[in-house]
Amino acid sequence: MAVKSLREFIGLLEKYDMLVDIKDEVDWDLEASAIIRRAGELRGPGVLMEKIRDYPSWRYFGNGLGSWKGMALALGLPPDASPEEIEKRYLQGLEKPIKPKLLNEAPCQENVIMGDDVNLFHLPAPMVHDGDGGRYLLTGGFRITKDLDSEWVNWGMYRNMVHDERHLGGLVMPNSDMGIMYQKYIKKGQNMPVAIALSIDPVSFITSMAPVGVGVDEADVIGGMMGEPIEVVKAKTIDLPVPAHAEVILEGEVLPPEFAVDEGPFGEFTGYRVAPRMPRTVIKINCITYRNNPIIWIANMGTPMYDGCISIGWQASIRKRLLEAGIPVTAVNLAPECGATLMAIVATEVPYHGIANRIGDIIFGSPSLCTYINYVVVVEPDVDVYDYSQVLYAMSAQCHPGRSINIKKNEPTNPLNPYLSNYERRWMIGTKAVIDCTTPVYWSKQTEAPPKVGFKLIYPKEIQEKVVANWEKWGFKTRY
Ligand SMILES: Cc1cc2nc3c(=O)[nH]c(=O)nc-3n(C[C@H](O)[C@H](O)[C@H](O)COP(=O)(O)O)c2cc1C
Repeated sequence: MAVKSLREFIGLLEKYDMLVDIKDEVDWDLEASAIIRRAGELRGPGVLMEKIRDYPSWRYFGNGLGSWKGMALALGLPPDASPEEIEKRYLQGLEKPIKPKLLNEAPCQENVIMGDDVNLFHLPAPMVHDGDGGRYLLTGGFRITKDLDSEWVNWGMYRNMVHDERHLGGLVMPNSDMGIMYQKYIKKGQNMPVAIALSIDPVSFITSMAPVGVGVDEADVIGGMMGEPIEVVKAKTIDLPVPAHAEVILEGEVLPPEFAVDEGPFGEFTGYRVAPRMPRTVIKINCITYRNNPIIWIANMGTPMYDGCISIGWQASIRKRLLEAGIPVTAVNLAPECGATLMAIVATEVPYHGIANRIGDIIFGSPSLCTYINYVVVVEPDVDVYDYSQVLYAMSAQCHPGRSINIKKNEPTNPLNPYLSNYERRWMIGTKAVIDCTTPVYWSKQTEAPPKVGFKLIYPKEIQEKVVANWEKWGFKTRY
């Protein structure tokens, strides 16, 4: 069953004992975010905070999607659904999109504030990390914009810092969908209308941070994932559809680049505070609408885990691209524990020499994936890509340090990579590596390829079955 709102998601987490509900007062200035950060780092539950200093009618939420269990529940699957099943649900959305349903009225517009009454400080934007350049209102939400030349409407998750009562600022990467649309408005000398949806349902969260594709409406993909249309309502001051069950909607306009104001730094998804404070795009807010007793979803980026760490859309798109290119891939893990999108672990059959490099070329050659991924680790199908002890073992034992690490220099990169020098960051100059942990195809299985000596690999099936069948009777556990 589709989870239609953040409130329904919180109810579901509570039902599965995956929520801590804090009734004590918490401070918007670092304390609330520190709680969410620690819950994520300890692989802990979601957190609801019911009393915020200075903001009596508001609440905070965080860390609902920082685990595979949370992701499964969000997508209407049983909590023990496998990453593959979760990936399939995302692909279902891409393959069978459903158009949104337009309502005449909606919960997100229960309260309306317009024009001179708009004051962003009436909303509890948290101070997320010590050292951030300001208070960030948009961490768990997305910006809605429309293409000038077509009906394409984009829902994309990009952060936003509060500058003053009426203005927010943030990064608009030129190669992001919003960036592509923004260039067209700049050329025409027009401000771009924008709505910002805060604290949305978790399916919209997952999809707005995924590379669904240029010209594709996230709202349709969300409907496809939910198996029914997502409900939207027309914004009050601009011609844009906004999610009906969001907690808060900000309506406004993106100002031209010459109005850019210093924004950042911010503790980033790579787990470091890397990007400098510098002039970034400004959004002017003209209208705020919100639900009664509203909730602000804080996605606390940093070291793993956090909301947004499990990039299922990115992972699905890697698998799709590899399969379309004829690679006999058996599993993919865009390892959240390695920093959201920094390392892809791919298991594949090895029908020919050089398949690991081919996989690297496909991933690094994709415009949406190329900047985010630093390492592609290729293993054989017997390695469980979700078991990091097995992956590290394959890297240590099966990868020849001299001939199996293929380093690709002068590649485009994400400037938020912590290891870049200032020069490389400024010009987005990166280096990528393919770590090939497969056995060379030209080695003889009889005389050169050493057999791996594991329980499942070297004992006859009947003996394995007998040992497993008697295991607990003999006093063993299956996990220690
Ligand atoms: C919490 C969160 C914040 C994000 N902030 C930004 C950001 O400020 N700028 C950016 O380019 N990408 C950001 N991303 C990644 C984008 O959401 C992702 O690249 C997405 O595909 C962008 O949408 P688009 O494909 O419609 O351009 C963020 C992701 C998450 C989970």
